[in-house]
Order: sequence, then C-alpha cells, then structure tokens
Amino acid sequence: MRWTKVSSRREFLKSASAGAMAALAVPSFLNAAGQTAISVPGKEGLIVRSYRFLDLETPVEFLTDWITPVQHFFVRNHMFAPAAVEGKEWKLAIGGQVEKPLSLTLADLQSVPVHSVTNTLECAGNGRSLQSPKVPGVQWGKGAVGNARFSGPSLKALLEKAGVKDTARHVVFRGLDVVPGKVPPFVRSIPIEKAMDGDTLVATQMNGAVLTPHHGYPARVIAPGWAGAASCKWLTEITVQDKPADGNFMIPGYRMPNQPVKPGETVKPEDTHSVTGLTVKSLIAGPRDGAKLKPGAQVVRGVAWAGEAEIQRVDISTDGGASWNPAKLGKDQAKYAWRLWSYPWKPAHSGDYAILSRATDSQGRVQPESAVWNPSGYFYNACDQVKVYVQA
Ligand code: MTE
Repeated sequence: MRWTKVSSRREFLKSASAGAMAALAVPSFLNAAGQTAISVPGKEGLIVRSYRFLDLETPVEFLTDWITPVQHFFVRNHMFAPAAVEGKEWKLAIGGQVEKPLSLTLADLQSVPVHSVTNTLECAGNGRSLQSPKVPGVQWGKGAVGNARFSGPSLKALLEKAGVKDTARHVVFRGLDVVPGKVPPFVRSIPIEKAMDGDTLVATQMNGAVLTPHHGYPARVIAPGWAGAASCKWLTEITVQDKPADGNFMIPGYRMPNQPVKPGETVKPEDTHSVTGLTVKSLIAGPRDGAKLKPGAQVVRGVAWAGEAEIQRVDISTDGGASWNPAKLGKDQAKYAWRLWSYPWKPAHSGDYAILSRATDSQGRVQPESAVWNPSGYFYNACDQVKVYVQA
C-alpha cells in the first residue's frame, strides 16, 4: 500500500469538511514517520491532489493495462460528491427544446439498448504542474487519465425518445453535486452533433460493473475523445437548447485561447473557445523516473492516445531526443481508446539516460517537444520524459 503525505493532521482535518467526510469516510493514520497519511477506500495507492473536493491522480507506473481498473482510475471533483444517491429514487429529466419532456428512472434507462465504448478519459488539466511558467489550478502530474469500458444507453436514443426540435443546437448537462450557496452546479454543454453521435453515452456501467459513487453513480455522460469536463457525473438533468450553456464551468472555465498567448497576456473571453477533443499524447509508465537500472535487457513501456483520432505510431529516444526508434503498439485497440506500446532497450553502457516518448496520430498531429502554454494549463502534451541511471 502507498501512503500519501500531508503536512499536518490539523491541515487535513481543516480541509476535509464534514460533508466530504460523511460522503467519503476518509480514514487518516499516523505513519511510522509520524506524518498523517490517508487512504481513500476503494482508491488505495492513488495520489491525493485535493481533499476538500476529492481529486485523485493515478501514479504513471500503474498505467500498464489497456483497461484501467476502477480502483486505479483518477477522480476529478469540482465540489463535494453528492451524499449517497439512491438509485431507486434517482430521476433524469430531459427537457428544453424537445417535443416530449421526459422524467426517466434507472429502470427506464435499463430498458434502452446498451451500447459500450472503450474511452480514454483525460482531464483537460492533466500535466498542468509541468507547464512553465506555472499556472493556477489543481497541480496534476501526469496521471489524470485512464482508459475504461463505459456502457449504457446512447444519449441519441434518449434524445430521440424526447424528440429533439429543429432549433436544437446544444445539449446541457447538470450534475447532482453541489456546495450550497458557494460553487454553482456543474453545468456544461456539448454541441448537438456530438450529443447525437451514437457513441456519446449516458453510462451506467464502468468496466462491466455499476458505476461507483466516485465516477458518477447512477449515470454519467461519456463524450468519448473529449476532455473529461464534457462527461458530467451524477447526471440529473439534460436540457436541449439553441445556445451553449453559460455559467462558471463554460465561461471562464474550460476555455482555450484561439491563438497562442504569452504568459501574463490577458485573453478576452471572446478570443477563447470551449475545450473539446483531446490532443495527441503518450506517457512512459516504466521505467520510473529516477529509477536505478541494472545493465542488460530493459523494456520501456507506456500508453498513447489522441482523443477522436487514432494513434499511428510512438517513437522512443533513449539519448535525450538525439535519435528516435519506433515502439511496438499493443494489439488492443478501439476508437477513442489508448494504445499500449513497448520498446525493448539494452543500454550500451552505465550512466545517465533521458528516455523520451513521442506519439503521432492519424490527423498528422505529433507530440511536440514543449507544450503550448495557456493560462489554465490545459492539454499539456509535451513529449514525455524520464531520467534513469544504469549502474553496472
Ligand atoms: N461531473 C460533475 N457533476 N462534477 C464534476 O466535478 N468533473 C469533470 C467530469 N464530470 C465533474 C464532472 C471533470 S473535470 C473530469 S476530468 C471528469 O469528470 C473526471 O471523471 P472521473 O472523476 O470519473 O475520472
């Protein structure tokens, strides 16, 4: 088991409000070094980036499976998860510009044909801590990403039941999570084209099991290939309208400048757009950054994804970017899902090595040497790098 340190017990208790504690029942312990360490039940081993609103990151060395186990899947919450949602009482309202507003129960959802999509879900802020200069927000390392098989009715099937009017242009989602009087509800919209894509889901299952509370029980949106923010958890209301949603999570939240900007430059809201599809990216899951390796045969391995595009190749450098060789892509693949990759390597001598990975996708996008800086640190996708020492 891996423990995550916080600086003091008082800090932990102060930041974990009564609501969050009731919902998540996070136990704390004093470890052998006398530091407070915590473990979130069902999420053992993840890195705690925030306690107040639970944000859990997957250590990159866990990312070695095509399907990420739910236990190892990152969590991103903007507010307290709703306290125990009762599946029997839960309702999903569908309204706005529809012919027949609906109020669906979980049983109603289960009567619609199930569709499954294996999707790499990544938070737009993944890798933010690597942006230079630094930007505010949750300081994610590399692991706010995972790949899971989500199942449930397609959103299209539900919208067709309600009868979408010709004026419909955007579909708005609202989650059940709230912080009374403080943070506005989690409301975001996607354009009607993405909503009516047969792969966009109202998912009730993750990796073949009922969604867990951390991941949005009883139902969440999955907008495959798009930044995680489009995939509203604890879904309670769908509204069809002729314009995008407004509110904090649409403006100023989750927007990118239309043109690259310099650090410190002010960007007007009208010069920005809402985040959509993920970019091309690869990560090295092993060897671990800072590892001391014995001489002899090694395997460099990791994952690569490209949102709505496909991974075409991953190249590896073991000499700090001077030369590159292709990695072998794993056999498991699906639209929207990451590819595993591996690269056999035999270090020629003992000493320091910088290993880099660089993905290329079907749209011709190539992972850049350095990421495009933006004020919120979204879509960080510089070539990944680990440094290792080979000791004879
Ligand atoms: N839905 C609600 N209702 N509230 C949230 O805070 N966070 C979003 C999205 N859906 C969020 C939400 C963000 S920013 C991300 S990256 C994904 O959920 C993370 O999904 P996960 O926690 O299941 O990994």
